[in-house]
Amino acid sequence: MCGIVGFTGAQNAAPILLEGLKKLEYRGYDSAGIAVMNEQKITVQKVTGRIANLCEKTRDGLDIPGTTGIGHTRWATHGAPTEENAHPHMSNDGKFAVVHNGIIENYMSLREELIRDGYHFESETDTEVIVHLIEMFYRGDVREALIRTTNRLRGSYALGVICSEEPGKIYAVRESSPLILGIGLGENFFASDVTALVNHTRNVIYLEDGEFAELSKESIRIFDCTGQTVSRKATRILWDVQAAEKGGYEHFMLKEIMEQPGAVKATIAPRIRDGRVFFEELGLSSDEIQNIRKIIITACGSAYYAGCAGKYAIEKLCRIPVVVELASELRYSDPIIDGHTLLIVISQSGETADTIAALKECKNRGARSLAIVNVVGSSVAKLADYTIYTWAGPEIAVATTKGYTTQVSVLYMLAVYLADKMGLIAGREKQLIHSLQALPRQIQQAFDLNSGIPALAKKYHGSKSIFFIGRNTDYAIALEGALKLKEISYLHAEAYAAGELKHGTIALIEEHQPVVALCCNRSIMEKTLSNIVEVKSRGAEVLALTFRNNQKILSVADDLMFIPDVDALFSAVVEIVPLQLLAYYVARENGCDIDKPKNLAKSVTVE
Ligand code: F6R
Repeated sequence: MCGIVGFTGAQNAAPILLEGLKKLEYRGYDSAGIAVMNEQKITVQKVTGRIANLCEKTRDGLDIPGTTGIGHTRWATHGAPTEENAHPHMSNDGKFAVVHNGIIENYMSLREELIRDGYHFESETDTEVIVHLIEMFYRGDVREALIRTTNRLRGSYALGVICSEEPGKIYAVRESSPLILGIGLGENFFASDVTALVNHTRNVIYLEDGEFAELSKESIRIFDCTGQTVSRKATRILWDVQAAEKGGYEHFMLKEIMEQPGAVKATIAPRIRDGRVFFEELGLSSDEIQNIRKIIITACGSAYYAGCAGKYAIEKLCRIPVVVELASELRYSDPIIDGHTLLIVISQSGETADTIAALKECKNRGARSLAIVNVVGSSVAKLADYTIYTWAGPEIAVATTKGYTTQVSVLYMLAVYLADKMGLIAGREKQLIHSLQALPRQIQQAFDLNSGIPALAKKYHGSKSIFFIGRNTDYAIALEGALKLKEISYLHAEAYAAGELKHGTIALIEEHQPVVALCCNRSIMEKTLSNIVEVKSRGAEVLALTFRNNQKILSVADDLMFIPDVDALFSAVVEIVPLQLLAYYVARENGCDIDKPKNLAKSVTVE
């Protein structure tokens, strides 16, 4: 995820900005830059790769004197990780520099408008529209220009801005992306993350959505979107740096679980306009889409399970057969592929060796390929014909959480998009879009409904093994739930299609055997219910995952986890959340190294 820092004071800004950016390195980034103002001149320096390169390029900041500045670490979204796309971005008149975290959803239309008005763009980023808008609206009052600019923006943003006509001042703006003001003695700061502040001050103010701040070395002024002054109390930060990196959470995994409403929103919202899904990235014409006869989804691990969950929505809406294959199998399976096959490759890292090999194999056989990837510019993204990015931000915990939910979100949107192009959802677009847009809120509700999971973990953490059962979409989600549990808690966990139990596995069910039963698919609930009764009658302890107030399940299960009412077609994104939490708290009870489970790597670049 991108990081922002800002400084104004009596000392040279560049070394302080560089030090702040180093503190943000743990969040992951692929390029970085700073802008420093010396009297009325703004100097920008940017690099790709590490902050160390920026230190080298600027002689640890000594080459850029000036006591006011802003800095940024970029995790590429719109446009490759290049120096041109790195922040800060400058206005055409050289008066403004801007750094930005978040996503501007309407940047395409703003960009076209600004180009028509004569503004020149140097990058592919969504951010650059902001600095040109500020220039356009500036009439000698930065505050007013910022208010007018943000009135035109849709999306999430934390902004840092400097203006050469206001030496000694830095401006901060927040909308749906964190921004914290640091209060020093004769100096003030802002940052997207307290880790960048705690070496200088522990007295901070958390900006709220829709608020703007004007910082000079002596003062901090906060105002709202009408320009009215807002007063905010300072908070004292008590976390140590390590806790601060994790946003106060004990582990990155928990932080990333909690980031899912934002990550799913960042992935979905910019692609919905006027009640339809848009994928500018996907260059397939309507005719080419009509000609798809078969879809193969391939990936490894959780990304493969994301494919298993997405298959249901694509088949249901598009009526195209979808085969989900493990990449490590597909690459050696002599796959049957022709020009009517669409290959969908899913990978968080974009560097998984088997996934890359399967993609190459299928491309050689004539498949059109579409990658769903989180890391911009990664190998999978480069190899595929088309790439849709998940915009989850960097994932640091080895076990994926927001990577998985954003992958499934893209598959859901893709199902709606393809079905729309094929003319198969006329009259239903509104309801489907509404269901997609509800997902971030429903994930949040799933958190609220499951405060009992730490207690459940205390009950089940000592089990020898745990079975997961479900049917259809519930089965696909059970696969991911079992993987999460086994990889971080080292408990044996297996998922079964509930209807398959009596073909063998039921022999393993004995007194007190825990069974997690997923019953979130109303159309098939009665069938899963009878499987629950089967295992209960053999002594199993059933921990059911179902809708609130589902009386039938309440009366048979021993323990419960809940999801809110979701559209069954798109349920995986919400339904997986309680299972992620269960895995997390069981692993915590077992004292495991949750963020770095043994024998696992974040990116599996070998076969
Ligand atoms: C499990 C997990 C792995 C990955 C798999 C594929 O929590 O993270 O199973 O999903 O190694 O990785 P990517 O998505 O990077 O290709």
